[in-house]
Amino acid sequence: MTVPRSDAFVFFGASGDLAYKKIFPALYAMARRGHLEMPVIGVARSEWTLEQFHQRAHESIEEHGSPIDEGVFRQLAGRLRYVRGEYSDASTYQAIHRELAGAKRPTHYLAIPPSVFATVVEGLGSSGCAEDARLVVEKPFGRDLASAQALNRTLHKIFDESAIFRIDHYLGKESVQNLLMFRFANTFLEPIWNQNYVESVQITMAENFGVQGRGRFYEESGAIRDVIQNHMLQVVSILAMEPPLSTYTESIRDEQVKVFRAIRPLSPEDLVRGQFRGYRQEEGVASDSTVETFAAVRLHVDSWRWDGVPFFIRAGKSLPISVTEVLVSLKRPPLRRVGPEETNHFRFRLSPEVLIALGARIKKTGEQMVSEPTELKMVHHADAEEMDAYERLLGDAMAGDATLFARQDSVEAAWAIVEPILGGATPVHEYEPGTWGPADAVRLTADAGGWHTPPP
Ligand code: BG6
Repeated sequence: MTVPRSDAFVFFGASGDLAYKKIFPALYAMARRGHLEMPVIGVARSEWTLEQFHQRAHESIEEHGSPIDEGVFRQLAGRLRYVRGEYSDASTYQAIHRELAGAKRPTHYLAIPPSVFATVVEGLGSSGCAEDARLVVEKPFGRDLASAQALNRTLHKIFDESAIFRIDHYLGKESVQNLLMFRFANTFLEPIWNQNYVESVQITMAENFGVQGRGRFYEESGAIRDVIQNHMLQVVSILAMEPPLSTYTESIRDEQVKVFRAIRPLSPEDLVRGQFRGYRQEEGVASDSTVETFAAVRLHVDSWRWDGVPFFIRAGKSLPISVTEVLVSLKRPPLRRVGPEETNHFRFRLSPEVLIALGARIKKTGEQMVSEPTELKMVHHADAEEMDAYERLLGDAMAGDATLFARQDSVEAAWAIVEPILGGATPVHEYEPGTWGPADAVRLTADAGGWHTPPP
């Protein structure tokens, strides 16, 4: 089924950080490919002229985008409009309506704090700007199950679920797309991708920096809300899902939500929380804060395919390196001719580079009949044509393709998994910046061979 493409793009929060870091570079990349033939309307409270708005876009692309071709930039600038206004003023929406100039299916992107979502959505509704329109929203989608449900009710007052596109930028990453492809494009995988052959699954999302001036935001969030409830669980859903049907557009999202429903709500004994030393001195952070900058969990996926296979996630700030990696360890071969550590694995590097490695054992050269580990590596080399997650996701939203966006039911099911461990369910352990988090985290994986340290 083809649905009509959007014919205008409006983004709220045009003077903000997200617009600067992600939206302008994505719009520029779309313009460069000839994928942005529509008016682009930025809305914000800053007193800017159109010229200053153009300047901001230029600086943003220079700093965060691909090298600027001035011809392409002129084309983009020619499409840019700027509406200055308060989100609570009806006149702001009248001005947007004028700039839309009869567009039939605009996409509105809320790159603003969730506290103003309701005001903007109502403003769009009462001004007629929401008619046949699409709505793109950014995480956080609530801060627990109840607030996520309340947020969904607010959005649904004006927009139908089929018109709502919730961005989880992990779903737009080339590496995460590749994971989906690798799982379902290879015949050799399916017979072993289950509890008969898989011993455990681990995901590490490590960042070698702290909260980078976002202390105030982080105090409200913490690692569980910031990345585990969304990015990490989305990766789990792709690793664990059943093959989607190709005959039905919602099939991938249906299979993802089935995984979330099969995951047992987390209990405190399956959680270890940590906080890096120095976090409490960050601006906007309480001097006695117990917010976690590191969290490790053990998930139980109660499905036919995964019964008994632990899925581990650990995510943290101020760890030794920045890397996101999945390790799927296979069971050891029968007969005790090899040691217990001598198993096979699949290793998926999701960032910074995209890599899939198959870990196998081969004979060590020499007289003795002993094995050594080796890896067959498939590296994906980024090229100039590669799409950044935001370019891909904005393009999909404009095209009305919701596959790579978080659906209401999956957002709520993912909150139900973490709900029991929100709000300091366990003590927070201090860890030294530059280490792999609190020593206590070792306890979670002790019976599964310990945590895998992604190579630098
Ligand atoms: C964001 C989180 O959603 O994802 C950040 O709020 C985190 O805390 C970021 O650093 C990681 O994204 P990426 O694409 O750099 O892995």
